[in-house]
Amino acid sequence: MTTGNTPNATGSTTQAGIPAVSDRHSLSVGADGPLLLHDHHLVETLAHFNRMNVPERRPHAKGAGAFGTFEVTEDVSKYTKADVFQPGRTTETLLRFSTVAGELGSPDTWRDVRGFALKFYTNEGNFDIVGNNTPVFFVRDPMKFPHFIRSQKRLPDSGLRDAHMQWDFWTQNPESAHQVTYLMGDRGLPATWRRMNGYGSHTYQWNNADGERFWVKYHFINDAGFDTMTNDEAEKLAGADADFHRRDLFDAIARGEHPTWTLYVQIMPYEDAKTYKINPFDLTKTWPQADYPRIKVGTLTLNRNPKNFFAEIEQAAFSPANMVPGTGNSPDKMLLGRNFAYADAHRYRIGTNFQQLPVNRPKNEVHTYNFEGNMWYDHSGDRPVYAPNTVEGSTWSDEQGPVDNGWEADGELVRSAYTLREQDDDFTQPGILVREVFDDAARDRLVETVSGALDGVREPVLSNAFHYWKNVDAEVGQRIEDAVKNG
Ligand code: HEM
Repeated sequence: MTTGNTPNATGSTTQAGIPAVSDRHSLSVGADGPLLLHDHHLVETLAHFNRMNVPERRPHAKGAGAFGTFEVTEDVSKYTKADVFQPGRTTETLLRFSTVAGELGSPDTWRDVRGFALKFYTNEGNFDIVGNNTPVFFVRDPMKFPHFIRSQKRLPDSGLRDAHMQWDFWTQNPESAHQVTYLMGDRGLPATWRRMNGYGSHTYQWNNADGERFWVKYHFINDAGFDTMTNDEAEKLAGADADFHRRDLFDAIARGEHPTWTLYVQIMPYEDAKTYKINPFDLTKTWPQADYPRIKVGTLTLNRNPKNFFAEIEQAAFSPANMVPGTGNSPDKMLLGRNFAYADAHRYRIGTNFQQLPVNRPKNEVHTYNFEGNMWYDHSGDRPVYAPNTVEGSTWSDEQGPVDNGWEADGELVRSAYTLREQDDDFTQPGILVREVFDDAARDRLVETVSGALDGVREPVLSNAFHYWKNVDAEVGQRIEDAVKNG
């Protein structure tokens, strides 16, 4: 016997909008008889269920986020003409946090770098800063990125994560030392997403209204203060509440506690980059604040939870290639590689017309000469499909000559790391981090974390790891070796 109130007029429908007769009983030949293929509602329900998943993001699969605003509180118009950074401007934003290596259901509190992907829905189109909670990265050439991610994911035979593989990759790529030091230090375990910083990490370009060019790094410093958790706390939470960070953010915003970050930039005059002691485009390096101090820009606030996780977070598409006028690329090879990778991932993961989904759609008018493809519904009527054309009222773009946000480049085609400068070695900056930024307690935690993380690592990778850490800091390296050898 059925219960409940299910008149068709107020009940559910099929996806075609037709009243669905029952969401509880499929059609059968008699109560004990076989089911019927023409029970369209049953077939549609089962078939759609099979298609509920889209591929997870290849890196940064596990995450969550919220909407908010970015308000410019200072005047940085002498550095950039970007509308989003003009004094007093307030812009809607979406920020997604993530871990890098874990899959969709993995614990939020596994030690990892955290993603900090920010979309500004500006008057000039969507502008994305797709950064992390650290100011540097593991490698400096995009060719290495897929190798890096695979080394952090799973073994091909057992499907298990593997410390040996991770350390083999890192120690074979000594430029990783700076980021690995951040990762094995306190930043590898943020207490909550609300209590961590975000960095654009790369060097980007800014251009002002007079055509002057600057190099820029973005720092989002959280106003509540930086906080982390211990290895023990993180391990317990990984079991007790795999969604700890996701829950913390959602609940806080639901309670009306809106986390805020202050955006600062480091600005390097265009010409300085040619002679600065560090190659300013090398993503494994920071710019010392003594040379390029932080300049305040404005405040980012998260104040609105998604109403639908899949539609607004899972299908959100962030790309470093989304740059608005007044901003631009730099010779950072990683950034240039990323310009390709993201939209390609979105076409695969979400679909050709992913930008038409509400969460990805720009707030300003779109006037593209790309047409049609799967799920293209926000169509342009009978507008001309080619340019140039002589159709009355039709417009297209036609800039020529030097570009606003370019730079000089010339030379033979080569496969090479950047040309080395005075302070471009791989170990100076991680050494400074360990000796001058970490205090005694943080150094003790680093030794404990690294020696624990080396559990299961075999020769020759184990000796390579001791050598790697002795290059970062002789004393810390020796302490790590002693801790591993003495159990
Ligand atoms: C996500 C590629 C370097 C931060 C992704 C995704 C791809 C990718 C394919 C998934 C995108 C999606 O499915 O929506 C690459 C490549 C890199 C690179 C090829 C180097 C050449 C970096 C760096 C950072 C970074 C240096 C930070 C400074 C992120 C973040 C996400 C992400 C935060 C998650 C975005 C989101 O929340 O949707 N990356 N990545 N990646 N990447 Fe990268």
